[in-house]
Amino acid sequence: MYACTILMYIVVCVRHNASAFSINNAISMNTINLPAAMKSGGDSYRIFGSDRFNAARVYTEPIAGDNVLVGWSGSNNVAYVRGLVAHDDGSYPVLLWDENYSEQINSIRVDGAIYTRLVSSTGGVVWNSLINIPNSMPNTFIVGDSRMTYGDGKYAASFHVQTFEGVDSDAYIYLHSTNGSQIANTESGDLNFGCSRSMSILLNYNPSLTVSEAFLPVCVTDCYPGTQGSNFSSKAIGGIYINKENRVIDVAGECSGNVGAELGGVAPDGQYWRMVFNSHQAEAPFGQTGYVTGNQDIEFVSIDNTRNIDGPVVWLTNTTDIQESDAGIARFIEPATNTVKFLVGWVEDDVFFKLGLYSSDGNLTESEGIEDVTQSAAWGNRDDPFRTLSSGGCGVD
Ligand SMILES: *[C@@H]1O[C@H](CO)[C@@H](O)[C@H](O)[C@H]1NC(C)=O
Ligand SMILES: *[C@@H]1O[C@H](CO)[C@@H](O)[C@H](O)[C@H]1NC(C)=O
Ligand SMILES: *[C@@H]1O[C@H](CO)[C@@H](O)[C@H](O)[C@H]1NC(C)=O
Ligand SMILES: *[C@@H]1O[C@H](CO)[C@@H](O)[C@H](O)[C@H]1NC(C)=O
Ligand SMILES: *[C@@H]1O[C@H](CO)[C@@H](O)[C@H](O)[C@H]1NC(C)=O
Repeated sequence: MYACTILMYIVVCVRHNASAFSINNAISMNTINLPAAMKSGGDSYRIFGSDRFNAARVYTEPIAGDNVLVGWSGSNNVAYVRGLVAHDDGSYPVLLWDENYSEQINSIRVDGAIYTRLVSSTGGVVWNSLINIPNSMPNTFIVGDSRMTYGDGKYAASFHVQTFEGVDSDAYIYLHSTNGSQIANTESGDLNFGCSRSMSILLNYNPSLTVSEAFLPVCVTDCYPGTQGSNFSSKAIGGIYINKENRVIDVAGECSGNVGAELGGVAPDGQYWRMVFNSHQAEAPFGQTGYVTGNQDIEFVSIDNTRNIDGPVVWLTNTTDIQESDAGIARFIEPATNTVKFLVGWVEDDVFFKLGLYSSDGNLTESEGIEDVTQSAAWGNRDDPFRTLSSGGCGVD
């Protein structure tokens, strides 16, 4: 799925009867001919420094009949896809970002626009709705991330903004699903900064939970809320936080864009979520010390119905010489045993794609262990790529 006119997505049908199981044999690759090349991915602060995405973000959402709605950004389109939801009736809202939008507000030039569009099941535009975050603009994704999800009859969206004073931060808002207009007086209010600032984001909805705890915004921050005060040279520290306040772990962060972790993927599982991401195992230092804790591994955590981490953090990899990234997770029920399992994947050294099946406490479930699937599968950078198909049996990218 690189800058080309063919986009592939994979389906892993993990329906096996225990003996001689192979994830590689369970993978099928589906090829889509795109009408135009994909937009390039551009640069973004990723894992302690700026890096180039292989392509603009790709979004996959399951739809009826084990089909998949795929969102990508075509080079012939003005806007970038920055979030996608699929409704049961075949309609779908998409979060769009127009980098070249410009207007003057009170003599301030506002760059960039982010808006939602509802597309009907027959492809017509039902509405467009511009999102206005006061005194802020979504002018770049060189810093930060974006996601959209749906639950309780409304959309939640989280995305990077820069304030008119030039501070990079992010917004977390709810939108009416009837027309895309912002819901005032909610938990998030009209303007609510998430982490300050989110370098990567996950956003999920768990329908098994009470509404007030059912939306799950997760961020990796390079600075606040972990950093106390503004003496970054000695106090800066990054971290992973749920709903911008419940800490998952501290990670190296310099309040400069540099942060030693990246999300990742998350899957609802009854009263819990299971989340995977990459970070360093060494203790996070305070201050702007450079990347002394450099080695990345994959971490698995459980999140409970109060949106706090539950149980131990589990390291799925432990390699000092390999850099892991681009983790994803999907839940499925294995029909043969009626057991809940998780398909978890990541990328090693930006080259080798790995998949394994895990239990809800992060243990490998198959004696075959972790498989290299580089010959049969690939997924994008920071794409939150895995979903469960509508029949409940498969993981997809
Ligand atoms: C937006 O502006 C950039 C920089 O000027 C330009 O390269 C790009 O082609 C423009 N995009 C569109 C869709 O016009
Ligand atoms: C959008 O829909 C909501 C709920 O249906 C309604 O209260 C609100 O007035 C609408 N906003 C606009 C701008 O039409
Ligand atoms: C910031 O912390 C460093 C190290 O503790 C200290 O030397 C420096 O004076 C502090 N700067 C300010 C402005 O407090
Ligand atoms: C990682 O490997 C090192 C060296 O073998 C070992 O000391 C450490 O306990 C391992 N960590 C985990 C989380 O397995
Ligand atoms: C998962 O692994 C941990 C650590 O090895 C172990 O303590 C635990 O019992 C395992 N859980 C299951 C369900 O096997």
